[in-house]
Amino acid sequence: MNTGIRWPLGLSTDTFLREYWQKKPLLIRNALNGFREAVTPDELAGLACEHGVESRLICKRGRKRWTVDYGPFDEGRFSTLPEKQWTLLVTEVNRHVPQAATLLDRFSFIPNWRVDDVMVSYAVPGGGVGPHVDSYDVFLLQGRGQRRWRYHLNRTSDVTFVNGLALRILSHFEPEADEVLGPGDMLYLPPGFAHDGVAVTECTTYSVGFRAPNRGELTAAFVRSFEDDRSLTDLYTDRDLREHDEPGELTEAARVRVRAMIRRIDLSDAAIDAAFAQFASMLKPGHVLDPPRKRVAGTEVKERLQKGVSLARSEECRFVFFPSGKRTINFYYGSNQERLSGAEARLARAVCRQRRLNAQTLGARDALSKEGLAAIARWINAGALSFVGR
Ligand code: SIN
Ligand code: CO
Repeated sequence: MNTGIRWPLGLSTDTFLREYWQKKPLLIRNALNGFREAVTPDELAGLACEHGVESRLICKRGRKRWTVDYGPFDEGRFSTLPEKQWTLLVTEVNRHVPQAATLLDRFSFIPNWRVDDVMVSYAVPGGGVGPHVDSYDVFLLQGRGQRRWRYHLNRTSDVTFVNGLALRILSHFEPEADEVLGPGDMLYLPPGFAHDGVAVTECTTYSVGFRAPNRGELTAAFVRSFEDDRSLTDLYTDRDLREHDEPGELTEAARVRVRAMIRRIDLSDAAIDAAFAQFASMLKPGHVLDPPRKRVAGTEVKERLQKGVSLARSEECRFVFFPSGKRTINFYYGSNQERLSGAEARLARAVCRQRRLNAQTLGARDALSKEGLAAIARWINAGALSFVGR
């Protein structure tokens, strides 16, 4: 897989995954072929003023004093800030800036469902969020300027935080590595490795984050998959109810019946796989697929693809599939689920592989076939794909 990452000498995507992913940090100098900044500090500040964009402004006021303010901010806010020791962080920039979205394609060696977001921070000298640990795998890509990263090379054992702060700052932090990153350099950190990035000069940092759900989240998602079951065939029934003096009691008979109902939950592989796929592709709170105002037909899709117009994949949801039988796949995006085979299945897999698509990358024969055009039109009309420059 060619991701455009320039692994250090002797490493490849395969050896990175085997030796570093989830195991230990890796510093990669000049990490990306053709790296260009996705947003300027001014654009980032502009985003932080918009409703529906999540942002934080963190100022360091003393050795253990920090303040955190949450956006959206007034435009004038940034001109009132000091020259040192603050940082602005904007999450989910991939939803708002196309180049931040396509940056994620460089990391397609990690499965789609693990992707969280691209967060971008801007900091003035001395700015940072303090020493902390994340529960995420993260690639910290330096945009402009320089940032000094001090971090642990072994998983952090002492995770106690300074009391009474709005930020979770480690009370003890003895760094084991100390590096200054410049434009295009990147630091990979697995979850649980303490780190502290302080701006040396005015700088931007792109945090490409990968979530790992815990068992509680996965179980909750599995249970949620039953919520829509409104069937009347498995209702609680108590036809044997008799007169009683204790209306508050959950009787033995009731408890036996409820235990049996819960134990009838389908824990088959198929039921769990379906719930997992729904969880993997589910819209996050506040995310919505944005269908076009005017529905498109297959003929229009054909015309545009033949003219070389590209399609962009929505950043609102994740696109995943799993095989079901030899030639069929279950394809999930947002709350949509489709069972596909043939050209449709091949197209869905191409959509899962990259964020920008055209007739060539989709496979022209499949894309321009009757069922292929209908599938692409369906995905556009669901808001999962859109023509670039529509
Ligand atoms: C930052 O960009 O300043 C914070 C990123 C991180 O430490 O996770
Ligand atoms: Co962090």
